[in-house]
Amino acid sequence: MPYQACETRYESMLYRRCGKSGIKLSAVSLGFWHNFGGNDIFENNRAMVRRAFDLGITHFDLANNYGPPAGSAEETFGRILKADFKSYRDEMLISTKAGWGMWSGPYGDFGSRKYLMASLDQSLKRMGLNYVDIFYHHRPDPETPLEETMGALDSIVRSGKALYVGISSYDAESTREAARLLKAMGTPCLIHQPQYNMFNRWIEGDLQKALTDTGMGCIPFSPLAQGLLTDRYLHGIPKDSRASKSPFLTPTQVESSLNKVRALNAIAEKRGQKLSQLAIAWILRLKEVTSVLIGASSPSQIEDGVKALENLHISKEELEAIDLILKG
Ligand SMILES: NC(=O)c1ccc[n+]([C@@H]2O[C@H](COP(=O)([O-])OP(=O)(O)OC[C@H]3O[C@@H](n4cnc5c(N)ncnc54)[C@H](OP(=O)(O)O)[C@@H]3O)[C@@H](O)[C@H]2O)c1
Repeated sequence: MPYQACETRYESMLYRRCGKSGIKLSAVSLGFWHNFGGNDIFENNRAMVRRAFDLGITHFDLANNYGPPAGSAEETFGRILKADFKSYRDEMLISTKAGWGMWSGPYGDFGSRKYLMASLDQSLKRMGLNYVDIFYHHRPDPETPLEETMGALDSIVRSGKALYVGISSYDAESTREAARLLKAMGTPCLIHQPQYNMFNRWIEGDLQKALTDTGMGCIPFSPLAQGLLTDRYLHGIPKDSRASKSPFLTPTQVESSLNKVRALNAIAEKRGQKLSQLAIAWILRLKEVTSVLIGASSPSQIEDGVKALENLHISKEELEAIDLILKG
């Protein structure tokens, strides 16, 4: 059956402005870091993207190295775009990145012009696209001059291969410097992608202020702490979960967070929400945040995430109770 997007998809989703730009993002976006690789089930991937789009999610986030194997998530997404989304391209905001190790030798890692330009060409081929909407530098590079990395981002926009650029995991000082360099070249930095969730609050304070001052949007990744901030691990570690399958989340991390997770889950239940929904609402309380970038392994997890938008208000008392648990 050819895919026909749900006609009411824009009615309940919230769209938030990305910094001082002309772009709005769906308050929940979908990322492809896990579960979209070469060994994952294509029909499940296809169902997730369809469900996300039907719920009003317009933003899909990839990177050159997502898989495994690296590159395969972009290939999967390319297949889905070709099969279902050809006529919807202009309704989608697609991002990719380069900055982590992608191929052997000195030109497949970090932040050189050589790496970024070649990597984006490869990404476009894998996804079957002429351009991406956002191209990110995926992580700070301590050795390459920031002028070179930002110069490459500017050239990429001028070449038409990306409409906007972003940075990921840059600290407050390098964020300000990146913004200054890009602005001087006439290519504003659209967005910052940092990790942010109840268990990792590093952006609060300096980076938040840098985002406001530079007019950049913000899209936190791993908002559910890779699944810890959900009900996924309340009764053990399921065989099909990230903590069973991926090196990025270990059973030890699950064990050591459980007491806090149970206490946070009780607050969510009192609100009539799931913990995943409270975790998303808690992030969206920050005015600097444009969208929350979730990952998922099934369409129902995406439905859960989007349902968070039905109750975004968190009282002062609830915020204090959450702080107390997190400090404990
Ligand atoms: N810029 C960067 O350096 C960087 C780094 C990491 C990620 N990212 C981006 O951020 C995206 C999201 O990261 P993430 O996948 O770590 O995000 P996350 O939302 O914190 O974790 C996603 C995982 O949580 C579980 N989950 C999600 N919804 C659930 C629900 N309703 N109930 C129970 N479990 C649920 C699923 O785990 P199971 O698979 O176990 O079901 C899912 O795979 C990535 O895809 C990527 O686009 C960027």
